[in-house]
Amino acid sequence: MLVSEIKSDAGYIKRDLSNMLKFKEKKSITDLDLRNKRVLVRVDFNVPMDEHGNITDARRIRYTLPTIHYLLNENCRIILISHLGRPKGKAEESMRIVNVYKRLREYCPLSNIYIADDCIGLDVEKMVEKLKPGELLLLENPRFHPEEKENDETFAKELAKLADVYVTDAFATAHRKHASTYGVCKHLEEKGYGFLLEKEMKFLSSIIAKPKRPLTVVLGGKKVEDKLDVIKYLIGVVDNILIGGGMAFTFLLAKGYAIGKSIRDLSKLDDVRQYIKEADKSCTRIYLPRDVVVCDELDYPTKIELIPITEIRENHVGVDIGEETIETYKKIISESKQVIWQGPLGVFEKEEFEKGTREIATHLVENHIYTIIGGGDSAAAFEKFGFQDEVSFISTGGGASLEVMKGTLLPAIECLSDKETL
Ligand code: 3PG
Repeated sequence: MLVSEIKSDAGYIKRDLSNMLKFKEKKSITDLDLRNKRVLVRVDFNVPMDEHGNITDARRIRYTLPTIHYLLNENCRIILISHLGRPKGKAEESMRIVNVYKRLREYCPLSNIYIADDCIGLDVEKMVEKLKPGELLLLENPRFHPEEKENDETFAKELAKLADVYVTDAFATAHRKHASTYGVCKHLEEKGYGFLLEKEMKFLSSIIAKPKRPLTVVLGGKKVEDKLDVIKYLIGVVDNILIGGGMAFTFLLAKGYAIGKSIRDLSKLDDVRQYIKEADKSCTRIYLPRDVVVCDELDYPTKIELIPITEIRENHVGVDIGEETIETYKKIISESKQVIWQGPLGVFEKEEFEKGTREIATHLVENHIYTIIGGGDSAAAFEKFGFQDEVSFISTGGGASLEVMKGTLLPAIECLSDKETL
């Protein structure tokens, strides 16, 4: 059994990481026979866009270029498929893949790239037939079909029909059991992972499996539920958990503080109380803010105050961690060897509420602490502060990286071909 660390005298718990590390037993793109083949590549081009459809962060497209170039070198006919947004099983204009297509053409100016107006069906099959080696076809958003999320077998078979080999580089969607990320594999002989997925798995699994201590996890952001669930798996494994952002208020409420109109997840209060108890008995210390920035109204605040957590009133909305908390968190970070950061510590999108996130990010960068950033919002914060090239690794996956931290074998990896053993 693989364990994160056997150091029971220091309070670290044994953790079975064999599932998480199973990706090493799966075929990578370099183990596949690809020469001249039709290759269906599941990518995650679910990129943020502004109201005019302009892509505001194209990292998810850029980071798959090594895989695409490798396939071009192998003279493959490349069929790319990615979801975009959450269209609820029917076509939605704003979620068409066309703007992604335009950006992809800029990144691969020497290749012929075509776009299909569906992802299955006769017309698409004809386009694939016409594709020459070294050419690419980008399929339309598979989530326009309800069968994609239902992992429908017939739909998966239709997708599989288009190719001889399957490659997944869609790390950010690898926790989803959908037809294009999972079901399709059953109908194709050869399937492996691309270079982006490999890089993501290597960074994340190494920090969990062989942490350099003290290991600190920063948890914040608005998607409270997913992150609260991951805490259970971190207790006894990591040294410090620093809580901020929307996460903080569910913790404060569970401890009996008033939190006004701040974001919370009431369904998790009992879990949170349990985590606090478990952490008290373990080597993991959970830190909560001692002071916070609050306002009366998030969109058009007329009053912004820095107050201790004991003074949060009914009409307050918590929007950032306070000065004292920033100093405490900085001190813990200075003493840490590695940091995983999931979710901003305040509403960093607004200048008035970005201080906590900015100061902690600056501190990490200035002190050259080995840091992995997970989740779109944290990545956007680092980008906003100009630190995107200053951290050790920015993961393209939010939900997927949380699943890796839990030690889960991601479905999109589970369904790939096993490496041949001698
Ligand atoms: C993401 O942005 O986290 C991935 O693209 C997955 O998207 P989903 O949460 O809509 O499945």
